[in-house]
Amino acid sequence: MINERKPKIWYGGDYNPDQWEKPVWDEDLRMFKLAGIDVATLNVFAWARNQPDEDTYEFGWLDEMMDKLHADGVGVCLATSTAAHPAWMARKYPDVLRVDFDGRKRKFGGRHNSCPNSPTYRKYSVRMADKLAERYKDHPGLLIWHISNEYGGYCYCDNCAAAFREWLRKRYGSLERVNRAWNTAFWGHQFYDWEDIVPPSSLSEEWRGPNGRTATSFQGISLDYCRFQSDSLLECYKLEYDAVKKHTPDIPATTNLMGAFKELDYHKWAKELDVVSWDNYPGLDTPHSYTAMMHDLMRGLKDGQPFMLMEQTPSQQNWQPYNSLKRPGVMRLWSYQAVARGADTVMFFQLRRSIGACEKYHGAVIEHVGHEHTRVFKECAELGRELFELGDALLDARVKAKVAILFDWDNWWAVELSSGPTVALKYVEELHKAYDALYKANIAADVVSLEADLSGYDLVIAPVLYMIKPGIAQKLEEYVSAGGTFVTTFFSGIVNESDLVTLGGYPGELRKLLGIWAEEIDALLPSQSNTIVVRNPGDGLQASYACGMLCDLIHSEGAEVVAEYGEDFYAGMPALTVNRFGNGEAWYLATSPEAAFLQDWLPKLCASRGIAPLVASAPEGVETTVREKDGTSYLFVLNHNAEAVSVALGVQSGVDMLSGRNLSEAAELAGRDLWIVKLDR
Ligand code: GLA
Ligand code: ZN
Repeated sequence: MINERKPKIWYGGDYNPDQWEKPVWDEDLRMFKLAGIDVATLNVFAWARNQPDEDTYEFGWLDEMMDKLHADGVGVCLATSTAAHPAWMARKYPDVLRVDFDGRKRKFGGRHNSCPNSPTYRKYSVRMADKLAERYKDHPGLLIWHISNEYGGYCYCDNCAAAFREWLRKRYGSLERVNRAWNTAFWGHQFYDWEDIVPPSSLSEEWRGPNGRTATSFQGISLDYCRFQSDSLLECYKLEYDAVKKHTPDIPATTNLMGAFKELDYHKWAKELDVVSWDNYPGLDTPHSYTAMMHDLMRGLKDGQPFMLMEQTPSQQNWQPYNSLKRPGVMRLWSYQAVARGADTVMFFQLRRSIGACEKYHGAVIEHVGHEHTRVFKECAELGRELFELGDALLDARVKAKVAILFDWDNWWAVELSSGPTVALKYVEELHKAYDALYKANIAADVVSLEADLSGYDLVIAPVLYMIKPGIAQKLEEYVSAGGTFVTTFFSGIVNESDLVTLGGYPGELRKLLGIWAEEIDALLPSQSNTIVVRNPGDGLQASYACGMLCDLIHSEGAEVVAEYGEDFYAGMPALTVNRFGNGEAWYLATSPEAAFLQDWLPKLCASRGIAPLVASAPEGVETTVREKDGTSYLFVLNHNAEAVSVALGVQSGVDMLSGRNLSEAAELAGRDLWIVKLDR
């Protein structure tokens, strides 16, 4: 648990006093106190200030600020400042500058802009981390390390090309094996020499495809480049991590992740973080269930351990096309949404709104007017008071789910690098469809990696499990044999980890488990649809549902056919099957259904496995979770609607920790309000 040194839900956020004159600092501290802010993330973009040239380091401002904050009871989440390199470095050592997708050498500018394989970047970023840790290792205000910031972006420079070849040597051992993995016999791409291999970019194999995708002639190359770039940035993180841990082995370290961020394989990253932290920026039209899924994905990165909400805006953003304000109550509600799903911190970007450059219209606790008499400040202060009163009650409490949704970055990359069968297929959207159906039914789910221990789950859902990595088919077979219920969908079991098709019929390695053969895959136009005709409707299932996008034409090889297609030349072929396998069952949904189907079918499947909803009933727009600790369950009920609703708790009863109100059976919950019900045992 990270919060030991400050045993409450940490409250604060990014604070950039290095961008302000000193008189402002005291005002800030005065207002932090009013708002109940007890953690400040310092030094995120101060590299240029800390190191004005190659040999000079100046930490005077930081010394003073660390002391001031500590004297005022505000702990520090200390960043290493390496997310934007200083101008002198770019001038003197151009290898820090990236080469972009179109082969252009970048000039100085922007942020998150250093080549991960630049010797200069690695040398100076590590040196900076080392100096900071040496300097502040005994500072009583230091709570946690924030390594760099929002790692991301790919580089295509010559240093990266050389490092890519090294990475490939390690992964494959020989050029012959690389050629085989990438199937370079296609289009005569045989590589004769390691030097023949270049990064896949718009200069070589890739181009900008439709629907926001990267298109490529060689999925194998592109996939390995994603892995390699993710690993390269992770190397940079690890070098800094080691540098700070050398001085402060007991201070936790993290870097702020970004939810379903495609470029980095966060399952791999999470192993190197002491605690997961992430930045949550939903748009005003982002479904609440999508945000919920992101929190669950972040919680799942480290086996369900609590995570940090590192950033969210108190009011609005600046980088979306339309940066609406969070309506009154929404900041509080969304903060608790994070807590409900496992966050042990509530932190903002930013504490004070900047005066110039692109984030001056980004929301902040302290707005441009500079005083505390604003709606946003008052809401922040009110939340600060509540979090203070909650104390340590919820810290380290765990969410327990009986359903797991499998998420895999390699699979995501491969699905969306695929040329055909459709550009409409978006991996995270398919996961979200299943997640949303469970969310609406108040059924808790974990979002976990393929490496997760599945034995505690009664139901495992793996939408579009296109890539079957070594050992996965066997793992799923064992899970089902032992009594588990497994659900997968169309376009699954097709390729191995190099994106080479498993021959002998789809779904390849999953064929035995699923008891089906997919002979062909039809792709529908967005304007087209088919139907899923249920053989035995009733008991919650209707007779027919719309479906589309992809339709696998499958044959049963022992699986029971539960529904079939209603139209086209494959009318009557199976659309939903279940195969009994050992003590469990494996379902195959051969097409992408309308939401109503999943909303009817998945809760029914859960009920058949004895997985109960968290409340007896709640109207649309109400979100529920449970966190447990020391045998006590805390039921969160959040009302995302602007209007009051009635929620039926069923047989559960308890006290709302926020209002002190006793709750049982059914009760009214105000618009954009929530309960944290400490349930009676
Ligand atoms: C990210 C960054 C911050 C800031 C915010 C703005 O999360 O980490 O530095 O730019 O976005 O929303
Ligand atoms: Zn590079």
